[in-house]
Amino acid sequence: MNVTFFTSKIPTTGTLFVGIFDKNVLSPSAKEINKKTGGLVEKVLKSSHFSGKKGEMLAIPAPEGLSVHRLVLFGIGKEKEIRESDAMEIGAHMSLEMRKYPEAEMTILLEDLHGEHLKNDRLASVMATGFLLRSYEFQKYKTQLKDKDKFHVKKIIFGVDSPKVAEKIFQEEEALVKAVNFARDIMSEPPNVIHPETLAERLQALSKIGLKVEVLGEKEMKKLGMNALLGVGQGSDKESKLVIMKWNGGDSKEAPLAFVGKGVTFDTGGISIKPSAKMDEMKYDMGGSAAVAGLMYILAARKAKVNAVGVVGLVENMPDGNAQRPGDIVTSMSGQTIEILNTDAEGRLVLADALWYTQDKFKPKLMIDLATLTGAITVSLGSKFAGLFSNDEGLVQKLREAGEESKEQVWQLPLDERYDRNIDSRVADMQNIGAHGAGSITAAQFLQRFVNKVPWAHLDIAGTAWTDESHMFSGKNPTGFGVRLLNTFVRKFYEK
Ligand code: BES
Ligand code: MN
Ligand code: ZN
Repeated sequence: MNVTFFTSKIPTTGTLFVGIFDKNVLSPSAKEINKKTGGLVEKVLKSSHFSGKKGEMLAIPAPEGLSVHRLVLFGIGKEKEIRESDAMEIGAHMSLEMRKYPEAEMTILLEDLHGEHLKNDRLASVMATGFLLRSYEFQKYKTQLKDKDKFHVKKIIFGVDSPKVAEKIFQEEEALVKAVNFARDIMSEPPNVIHPETLAERLQALSKIGLKVEVLGEKEMKKLGMNALLGVGQGSDKESKLVIMKWNGGDSKEAPLAFVGKGVTFDTGGISIKPSAKMDEMKYDMGGSAAVAGLMYILAARKAKVNAVGVVGLVENMPDGNAQRPGDIVTSMSGQTIEILNTDAEGRLVLADALWYTQDKFKPKLMIDLATLTGAITVSLGSKFAGLFSNDEGLVQKLREAGEESKEQVWQLPLDERYDRNIDSRVADMQNIGAHGAGSITAAQFLQRFVNKVPWAHLDIAGTAWTDESHMFSGKNPTGFGVRLLNTFVRKFYEK
């Protein structure tokens, strides 16, 4: 899709969007169109339930006095109050509207539109972002697409006051959309296509956008003593990998921010095998690693002035003659021993070694991990908030703020010594499942045993990374959750 900006002229073709404020007050461009069409806008508004609220859409086909295919009135809400997330939301609604038509071109007139916090050049750029994010589809394997299932829009034109400014803002926004869609794509790919070896290759390829990428195989990990991670992958024919992505955009002496991702490319549960229903969805059990990769992608693409490292543990959890058994005891890289009571609680085993490696090797300023870790988090929070666990209140506050701004929200759950006791093992230092409920919390307690003094946060994204209900900026299935949240987090608190 091609997005362009210029100082407006009324188009002669395609679909034309003009804004209506709350209580059906006409925007300047709506007034102009109303005049050109002999009062059509006012007439149509009078005979509908449309009220100018943010995100409403009302299409008028073949409007007289204009040569466009249709005119779409869109609700803006209160002009003064409009914020970036509102503009993004409106863009997302426009994407849904355009799905109805075989239309290649659309024009959105935004000049003379100004919120208190938002000029129309920025407003247009973020509206385009919302539009593009919501337009994502994974149709690579559809060979028989019907015309009505295709997305036809090729060209989006925004009328703004200063096209140059809008253009510049949009460059960064467009990179962000690409980063999110990179994450979504690798989550959408089937597990016979994306497995530890091929995912490592895809991440390696990010070196072309300026990341330094290093891949460790099983031999190297064995040497490091990463037996917790290796145990999970030992039933798979595919080689387990640890991928390290570095972006050094900050001061060379500055400690990096570290992001760690769970990358289970398929989770059968192993010998503690999962039920068949919906097992296919366990291809998205690498959503944490996808988010980390997407974040590293955008940091490099916008040349963020920060040092960051992304570490992802890539394994496939399969049952096999060589698979890990319930009852096995493994020694993690930290030296702590783990009794495996359930081979389906594998994500924490992968993260145990990935977290330890990361803090040991990079001495980061802080460490944030993302993981589709527990089914229990979807019981608590559904798909609207990710679970947040942390040993640092300042970090919690920052993540919360970044969540509000990016609309990828987090909700804190407790860590507590009394939950920690629930993972003590009778025969090893700990066991990989907790007794007495609180599944998401005991999983987080487990991770905390592999974190030393560094400020750390764990995001359980099992409910938010993939959903079966449509969300504002994504349809069903992969959301790319975490990329925008952490991009906002880094930009807001750690750059310059
Ligand atoms: N990958 C799953 C968690 C998951 C479940 C993610 C549903 C997305 C949707 C994880 O590896 C797992 O199987 N967790 C178990 C832990 C249990 C065995 C203690 C779970 O949540 O049931
Ligand atoms: Mn599992
Ligand atoms: Zn899993």
